[in-house]
Amino acid sequence: MKLSFGLPLALLAGAIASPLASLGNSTFYNPVLPGWHSDPSCIQVKGTFFCAISTFISFPGIPIYASKDLINWKLVSHVWNRESQLPGVSASTVGQQDGMYAPTIRYRNGEFYVICEYLGLPDGIIGVVFKTRDPFNEKSWSDPVTFKPTNIDPDLFWDDDGKVYSATHGILLQELNLETGELSQPPINIWNGTGGVWPEGPHIHKKDGWYYLLIAEGGTERDHSITIARSRKITGPYEANPSNPILTNRGTDEYFQTVGHGDLFQDTNGKWWGMCLATRTGPEFEVFPMGREAVLFSARWDKGEWPVLDPVRGEMSGWPLPPTSRDVPGDGPFNADPDVYDFPLGKAIPRNLVYWRVPRANAISVTAKGLQIVPSRNNLTGTPESLVTPELTGQKGLAFIGRRQTDTLFTFTTDVSFSPRVVGQEAGVTLFLTQFNHIDLGIVLLAPDASTSKGNAKPQLSLRFRTIGTIESPEPTIIPVPVSWGSGQIRLEIQTANATHYNVAAMPAANPNARIILGTASARLVSGGRGSFVGSLVGAYATCNGAGTGLDCSAGGNAYFKRWRYTGAAQYISATEIVPEL
Ligand SMILES: *[C@@H]1O[C@H](CO)[C@@H](O)[C@H](O)[C@H]1NC(C)=O
Ligand SMILES: *[C@@H]1O[C@H](CO)[C@@H](O)[C@H](O)[C@H]1NC(C)=O
Ligand SMILES: *[C@@H]1O[C@H](CO)[C@@H](O)[C@H](O)[C@H]1NC(C)=O
Ligand SMILES: *[C@@H]1O[C@H](CO)[C@@H](O)[C@H](O)[C@H]1NC(C)=O
Repeated sequence: MKLSFGLPLALLAGAIASPLASLGNSTFYNPVLPGWHSDPSCIQVKGTFFCAISTFISFPGIPIYASKDLINWKLVSHVWNRESQLPGVSASTVGQQDGMYAPTIRYRNGEFYVICEYLGLPDGIIGVVFKTRDPFNEKSWSDPVTFKPTNIDPDLFWDDDGKVYSATHGILLQELNLETGELSQPPINIWNGTGGVWPEGPHIHKKDGWYYLLIAEGGTERDHSITIARSRKITGPYEANPSNPILTNRGTDEYFQTVGHGDLFQDTNGKWWGMCLATRTGPEFEVFPMGREAVLFSARWDKGEWPVLDPVRGEMSGWPLPPTSRDVPGDGPFNADPDVYDFPLGKAIPRNLVYWRVPRANAISVTAKGLQIVPSRNNLTGTPESLVTPELTGQKGLAFIGRRQTDTLFTFTTDVSFSPRVVGQEAGVTLFLTQFNHIDLGIVLLAPDASTSKGNAKPQLSLRFRTIGTIESPEPTIIPVPVSWGSGQIRLEIQTANATHYNVAAMPAANPNARIILGTASARLVSGGRGSFVGSLVGAYATCNGAGTGLDCSAGGNAYFKRWRYTGAAQYISATEIVPEL
């Protein structure tokens, strides 16, 4: 296969439409939802496919992607899009990967339902069921009916007699009242899986007189898998498929590892497909900054038989894909679109930009000067999990906004206007996995170096490259902003040097040729660490690094971002191959 860089974007993760596509099987490339998109649950309704995804503590949560062709996925809404749907919940969440886990999306009588559970609250887990008749209209998602789940990973299943069931981790089965959130007691333990740890992520499908119970087991790392059992009665006994696991890359040297936690659905021709999560890392499992991504596979499910799922690879063949189409309603970006955002006044913040927890009111807004970030007193690290300085944990929101890293190779730049007045005020760009794992390039006002100050020394506007992490965390680089750059906007850049390293650079926006590379960081720093369930975001922040009082910085230090550009350059499908050009 030819290796080439700088591919036309439309081809990334795209399908090759062979002239015989309508007759023969298709070729497509995984991941179809690249970047951090774990635990996909998907359905097809009237020719449109919909998937819901886990989002943990990021906000807005539970994105809904819609597609007519299984390849071009449009981000049409977030199910959890307003603080008022779950007041105070985000700010009460401590852990870096607590929050919204493993949704299930289902459709019934004109209504779309998303069931999920939220982890990490002082009193444990809450279950949530949201619904809408119009998933293309974000605001139409309801406030949730909440319930007290016995276990995580709730499924939603309507039996022919109208009874509603939720299976969860364990695997436990309960009836669920969708109006009141009441669960039948005691839960029935219907299956334990085939012996792998963490039997979870269940989805029940009724077909040909059987209840099929599809689950994930083995843990969400290299032993991950999908297994299945079936019963004539929903309460069991369930018999395991002798061919289990029906999908896994366990024990292989495949580039796509951690394959598991999926869902099955049919196209309008009755052909079966599945989506699940996978990590592009190879068997070493060391470098995987994008975390757990969503992959597509075909399945064969003959009458009365067990389903047979196609193994997950980078280059796939499968059933004929529906005709290529970007004719999907709603106003979000498609998965492979670049970011070309200038933040004109009056336009909403683009839907693919997200926060780490619900941000403070007015912390991030579009103004006449661009995307304004009001600094948070806590920096991107803050004091997470600290009881001593609760105002600096970041639980009340980081002054940060970012998008998923969705390409193995990419360039991200944005132009910053920033006039700090107080030492410690900083504005910058970051490659962010968690508060414990990030790579930052900031413009920061630093105190004059005591050893060189001659009494009249003034605070120094500086560029600072700094990383937080436990693996391969280089020493910071600090240089004064060159006087020759003047006082115009500064362009900050994060660019992949290759699949395992990032370069960070700065330049005057008016003269990109004056670019200075401040440093290089390994992607291992944002692989796993304190965020093995989440994936990297790339974006912008502002902070005063602890100066000020309570949650507030002293006045000044607002940062304005313009000309926000994220451009994918290549998608690896093995350690040496990228998605080929036609
Ligand atoms: C699951 O394992 C537990 C503990 O070994 C056992 O008591 C239970 O009967 C098992 N459940 C099923 C459905 O086999
Ligand atoms: C087409 O794809 C399906 C699903 O992967 C597979 O079962 C079938 O054998 C393939 N047909 C051909 C002719 O390759
Ligand atoms: C990737 O880039 C980094 C930084 O430039 C470099 O140290 C490393 O050797 C490169 N890796 C490969 C495989 O070229
Ligand atoms: C980041 O914030 C923490 C907590 O306020 C502080 O200890 C640390 O020094 C800050 N980092 C920098 C570079 O100022």
